[in-house]
Amino acid sequence: TVNWESKISVNIDCYPEGDEDQAKCEARGCLWEPLSNPQCYYAENHGYITSNKVETASGITVEIDRNTEFPSQRSRSRDINKLQVDITYLSGRSLRWKIFDPNNARYEVPIHLDLPATPETDETKREYRVQINNQPFGIQVIRKESNEIIWDSAVPGFTFSDQLLQISTILPSDYVYGFGETEHPTYKHDLNYQKYGLFAKDQPPGYKLNSYGVHPFYMGLEKSKSAHGVLLLNSNAMGELNVYMIGRPVLPAYWSLGFQLCRYGYANDTEIADLYRDMKAAQIPYDVQYADIDYMERQMDFTLDQVNFKELPALVDQMRAEGMRFIFILDPAIAGNETKGSYPAFDTGIEKDIFIKWPSEFSSDIVWGKVWPDYPNVTVNNSLDWDTQVELFRAFAAFPDFFKSSTAEWWGEQIKDFYNNIMKFDGLWIDMNEPASFVHGTVGENCLGNKDLENPPYMPPLESKLRGLKHKTLCMNSEQILASGTRVKHYDVHNLYGWSHTKPTYDALLSTTGKRGVVVSRSTYPSSGRWAGHWLGDNYSTWDQLLMSIIGMCLVVLGKISITGADICGFFNAAENEMCLRWMQLGAFYPFSRNHNTINMPRQDPVAWGPEFAAMSRDVLNIRYTLLPYLYTLMYEAHVHGNTVVRPLLHEFVTDEKTWDIDRQFLWGPALLITPALDPGVTVVRGYVPNVRWYDYHTVTVGVQGQFLDMDTPLKKINLHVRAGHILPWQKPENNTHYSRLNPLGLIVALNDEGVAHGSLFWDDGEGIGEFCLCVCVCVGMGIMRN
Ligand code: GLC
Repeated sequence: TVNWESKISVNIDCYPEGDEDQAKCEARGCLWEPLSNPQCYYAENHGYITSNKVETASGITVEIDRNTEFPSQRSRSRDINKLQVDITYLSGRSLRWKIFDPNNARYEVPIHLDLPATPETDETKREYRVQINNQPFGIQVIRKESNEIIWDSAVPGFTFSDQLLQISTILPSDYVYGFGETEHPTYKHDLNYQKYGLFAKDQPPGYKLNSYGVHPFYMGLEKSKSAHGVLLLNSNAMGELNVYMIGRPVLPAYWSLGFQLCRYGYANDTEIADLYRDMKAAQIPYDVQYADIDYMERQMDFTLDQVNFKELPALVDQMRAEGMRFIFILDPAIAGNETKGSYPAFDTGIEKDIFIKWPSEFSSDIVWGKVWPDYPNVTVNNSLDWDTQVELFRAFAAFPDFFKSSTAEWWGEQIKDFYNNIMKFDGLWIDMNEPASFVHGTVGENCLGNKDLENPPYMPPLESKLRGLKHKTLCMNSEQILASGTRVKHYDVHNLYGWSHTKPTYDALLSTTGKRGVVVSRSTYPSSGRWAGHWLGDNYSTWDQLLMSIIGMCLVVLGKISITGADICGFFNAAENEMCLRWMQLGAFYPFSRNHNTINMPRQDPVAWGPEFAAMSRDVLNIRYTLLPYLYTLMYEAHVHGNTVVRPLLHEFVTDEKTWDIDRQFLWGPALLITPALDPGVTVVRGYVPNVRWYDYHTVTVGVQGQFLDMDTPLKKINLHVRAGHILPWQKPENNTHYSRLNPLGLIVALNDEGVAHGSLFWDDGEGIGEFCLCVCVCVGMGIMRN
């Protein structure tokens, strides 16, 4: 995507895959200029030409032909010469276009969209105009009010071939946000010929790397200070471009907004029991305890380690009786080397034929991978290198095809049996669903069938270049079967694996427990938020990750997922005291607030660091718990109206350009401004206070506004401001939400300059599917009050 004032001065990259030279460039019909960037660029009329156009009240249909003056571009990826473009005026504020091969159906993403029932046929009610450029073919979307072109693909180089689509647009400004889940060093993107891959991958976040989920969405700001969003709805190469709502986020159980503790590598149930005892004694608010793959026998789903975690079911019952909640991890991959008759999850999966296999013309076998489960009867030696461990100890694993309805049923039965026969739980954590595998493609790495699928002509700039797309996942030619019975390649649905895993898990949780609970998933796609939250994956215990987590959350929020946050104090490597404390303060304002780390690392939970650390953690979590009624109300509003919960400042103050670059601060809804300390050794933090009246949360004083401020941030303090004009419901905190919910509720009424404030409270039993109450409060002309 490029931004320029005058189209003539900018060239569109004709060789995005790199490795070009003059001969290769010219063979593609492009122009070569060695000293320019890009060196190889499209000639003026390279692309498609409009051959026919029909306008109706509800949209435009266009037929376009490839300009065959230029050679076919990518040897392995056949150009499609004739295309159809369907543009629909979805509503006064949204439109969709779909560019497709009218002669051959291709895979389309099956997500349900909240589309208006009928298009907006009244031209005067539409906020935009659409223009078609004939040569080169391109679409221009113009905001009527400002006359700004907010989408303009009338530039050379539009490419539509089997395995490669290229489309360029001129942006109205260089303020662009979105395209998760890749690590962006700033919330506002650098647009200077940057490349970000969109491919679901078991990849710890790192500079510009694409990680677990895929959210092909961006928000662009305009010179007139309006904003627009674009969703490119395709799970592999881009085939359709759409702008619309993608379903509203789920309303999680109230308790899931409490503080949560987890780690990979609890040695046994006693460690968890001791942790719970110490957290209780230190009176640190905490609602949810997790067990990671350690609780399983040899890391196999739906089993219990009868040696080290024998007492876990009793501990779970005891903790739940005291108002605590439990969440267990489940991975999709199912161990396949158990003796027949000894592992029902696999046996019943085979009976029901739910595992991903090869296309039948190559083999009738399962596409075997390897993940966590170990072979039976092995003694794992952790001192060996990783590849040797994988080879010697990890069992063959089969991947359920969650697109099949029989798989969803099978998954639901396993979950129910586990709950009824092994242990109770309140929520589920689904992981490794990119899907991740510890071998590349399949055991032996020999992907059957068309190898081109592993190496598309344009490979995103990620490490999988070394091995193709199969790196750390399944072969692209593996076969998946849609609910309709249609057979598709994993290549088409790879980015949807986590998405397809999520609804069956949510449905199973609901039907097993009869409560809302919460599901947390590692791999997501737009609309995953309808069923689950998402944590930001395997981050590092380093200071820079504090800022990355704010940017990461803001990107996830654009994908309409409300429940989000990073592993507090970091997953990999040993945390350090001051960093972990600052992270506890920041994490107290993640919607999903969980401290979690990896195996063989020192403990980093709040009681691990001694009484002083514990006391400061208690203080900040008490603030979180005090404000949970406000956070819960925001979750409700997101659920019914599609609002965001965590908000970058620009979402609230878009007319104030100073907010457009801010990513070291964020908001809860419209009214709570959070300014965390993100660097070592600081006692002052610089933050922006937008130009309305704000009350300091701690002192209830009004300070300056519309300016950057140096705020005191001694080790025990995080800066918080309440926006005038708003009412925030609150409740006295307790050790967990079971008890805090028994306390009376109060209101923080922050009056504005006119002496007015408004707000609302959503309240229900916190987890049921039944009755609720929504109270709307308006207060006029009162003093500031706190109860
Ligand atoms: C993955 C998860 C991590 C979990 C680990 C073991 O790396 O991202 O959170 O602890 O697997 O299950």
